[in-house]
Amino acid sequence: PLVTTGELITRAATARSAVAAFNIITLEHVEAVIAGAESATAPVVLQVSENAVKFRYGRLLPLARAAVAAAERAAVPVALHLDHVQSDDLLRQAHDAGFSSVMYDAARLPYAENLAATRTAADWAHSQGLWIEAELGEVGGKNGEPPLDAHAPGARTDPAEARAFVADSGVDALAVAIGSTHAMTTRTATLDHDLLKRLSATLDVPLVLHGSSGVPDDELTAAVAGGITKVNVGTALNQAMTGAIRAFLAEHPEAVDSRKYLSVGREAMAEAVARIIGVLAGDGRS
Ligand code: G3H
Ligand code: ZN
Repeated sequence: PLVTTGELITRAATARSAVAAFNIITLEHVEAVIAGAESATAPVVLQVSENAVKFRYGRLLPLARAAVAAAERAAVPVALHLDHVQSDDLLRQAHDAGFSSVMYDAARLPYAENLAATRTAADWAHSQGLWIEAELGEVGGKNGEPPLDAHAPGARTDPAEARAFVADSGVDALAVAIGSTHAMTTRTATLDHDLLKRLSATLDVPLVLHGSSGVPDDELTAAVAGGITKVNVGTALNQAMTGAIRAFLAEHPEAVDSRKYLSVGREAMAEAVARIIGVLAGDGRS
């Protein structure tokens, strides 16, 4: 069934566990994430990024309607989240399109501007009953930008600044920069667990890890133990899908029917989803 992100996060926070949130781009992503969550018997968040909307000719509704329909029929709880929103126009579409939460992304702006924009977004989101996540510090690596120096001043989230940011903006959750980077295709990120511990002790909102595709299994498990409640995964699904399709087409150069290779890609994504959920649950399936 379709549920709200807020209820999944609250339940995970109480259980000191984490909810996996996967970025969806195609209908195959939607089906694979739900199939993977069903095989792991776990709730899941389907998230649509502003970049994915741009890829869909700027239209949110076609993918959103497919995701809502799939979520309603899922055997596990599924929530819909709008990810990395910078456009106010897109933010305003979230509720009516079936989303229960948004991540408002103004982390590229200087602190005061990030705070002002995020506070406006949070007020609006709450007036719609939406749960809102924002980012302080910079995870980086989006849109092919060069990898950030994770130790550069201001790149990592500062606990005292984060406390003020959450209080002054009114957001429900915070994406923290603790060493992960978006769009990594190797699982070589090292997280700053000491910083995570300090953030978790200083803040009373759930913490979100972005760029989780580049984070090794043991680091992910430690991050959940250290207070991460929502784990965002995008690139790992594309790696699974593209790798499986590339291998299938190399082996079957005569293949024409798109269902033949899309089903292989979808299956590879579903396996990746179930595997990552298993890692977060600490069930040793890694
Ligand atoms: O918001 C989306 C995530 O941060 C995905 O990052 O593609 O590096 O896994 P990733
Ligand atoms: Zn992200």
